[in-house]
Amino acid sequence: MVSQKLEKANRQQEKGNKEIPMEQRPIFHFSAPIGWLNDPNGFSYYKEEYHLFYQYHPYDTNWGPMHWGHSKTKDFIKWEQLPVALAPDLEYDKEGCFSGSALEYDGKHVLMYTGVTTKETENGKSAALQTQCIAVGDGISYHKIEKNPVIAGELLPTGCSREDFRDPKIWQEKDAFYAVVGNRDQNGSGQILLFTSKDLNCWNYCGILLKNNYEYGSMWECPDFFELDGNHVLLVSPQDMEAKDLEFHCGNGTLSVIGKFDKTNLIFHRENQRAIDYGLDFYAPQTVRTKDDRRIMIAWMQSWDYHMGNEEFKWSGMMTVPRELRVENGTLFQVPVREIETYYGDTVTYEHVTIDGMLELEGIHGRTLDMTIEVNAGEYKTFEIILAANEQHYTTLSYERDQSVVTFNRTYSGDKRDRTHIRSMRVKEAQGKIKLRVLLDWYSVEVFLNDGEKAMTSLIYTEREAQKIQFCTEGKAEFCITKHEINRE
Ligand code: FRU
Repeated sequence: MVSQKLEKANRQQEKGNKEIPMEQRPIFHFSAPIGWLNDPNGFSYYKEEYHLFYQYHPYDTNWGPMHWGHSKTKDFIKWEQLPVALAPDLEYDKEGCFSGSALEYDGKHVLMYTGVTTKETENGKSAALQTQCIAVGDGISYHKIEKNPVIAGELLPTGCSREDFRDPKIWQEKDAFYAVVGNRDQNGSGQILLFTSKDLNCWNYCGILLKNNYEYGSMWECPDFFELDGNHVLLVSPQDMEAKDLEFHCGNGTLSVIGKFDKTNLIFHRENQRAIDYGLDFYAPQTVRTKDDRRIMIAWMQSWDYHMGNEEFKWSGMMTVPRELRVENGTLFQVPVREIETYYGDTVTYEHVTIDGMLELEGIHGRTLDMTIEVNAGEYKTFEIILAANEQHYTTLSYERDQSVVTFNRTYSGDKRDRTHIRSMRVKEAQGKIKLRVLLDWYSVEVFLNDGEKAMTSLIYTEREAQKIQFCTEGKAEFCITKHEINRE
């Protein structure tokens, strides 16, 4: 039976479909149908298609009681909208259906999410209570199971918070299911708990997969845990991070931990850790394993501390381009999903162009494109790529060779609010050689450094007329540039 809350959310979504013109939308990034969207949820493969759910408040462009919006795709670029999958309509999730994940089992699509409710405390006040719940469906509609919540606070040892206990990521291995869940310890610091089940209904607590001990922020949200290229990778989104050198400037940031998982004792031995993205707007990534054995990550393209958007739009929130992951020398690499290539339109290439000063190149302009810029040689000190430019507005991506630092700057992109506009990332022993792949959509800039060694994701809401791209150097530099226009069809 469809609850009134779910019906209402679907009516609201229909309103968005009617009222929001395509001209207000990005061309190849997933955006909220109407209202607010945050974390990707339930990114999964089900019956030959990839499903994406997301934290959704269709009534307002600000966060509110969480629903799960739903879409599916065959190629990670073109999405088909589906009815809203979950609404906060039962006692155990009346304050929200928070983040979670999904898998296919026995022909069914199984979702695990965090139900948020309130409980009375001893002093008569009310406090949040978070439990893990299951909904089962057929790819379109979902019902919450009788046995919910399937993982409640009673399963947790003392010291584990029952208020901050959320964002389960489930997977299946041989004849068992596993789930990692974000949690806080008795000191308030983040930790990831591991659970297992034989039938998805009865769950057992296995232990703490990894403790943060306040090394990286406080609470750890949205864990994901998987095997990749002979390693195990834990992705988490820590709250309240402090900047370290050029990493973790976002407040709520992201961290990739690479290591080895001792499957007998269920302990994760970490070897390397690093920010997942170095830009201004990236949080809560989640991955799916594809049919052809690729690991694809998608994330919420936004910062928690401010919500940059166009205030005239009735939608707020986009996802990053889905990215293929790999591990090389203990580092997580990411590049845009290869399916993007089937959307390439016009291609313009320049081989070995020497730039000394300012230059605009014929055919290199536009706002929806995939452009690779390689600088291989030259006596240059710095170079700058000026993007989304017109007479008033522009955004820059610059490289300072002696510092080996790439900087993104949207100060003059037309934003009228006082917020952070600049972010930098270090380039490893570059010696003047550098490769930048830039994905531009109407409202975003995603930068991939040296074949995906680092990524930097940021929003810009510059008016669409700003289409110029210019190159500027201090000293002589030799460029190779390939630009592919990206079309919707
Ligand atoms: C992360 C997060 C999750 C939570 C959800 C609520 O962005 O705070 O921990 O489940 O958003 O919308």
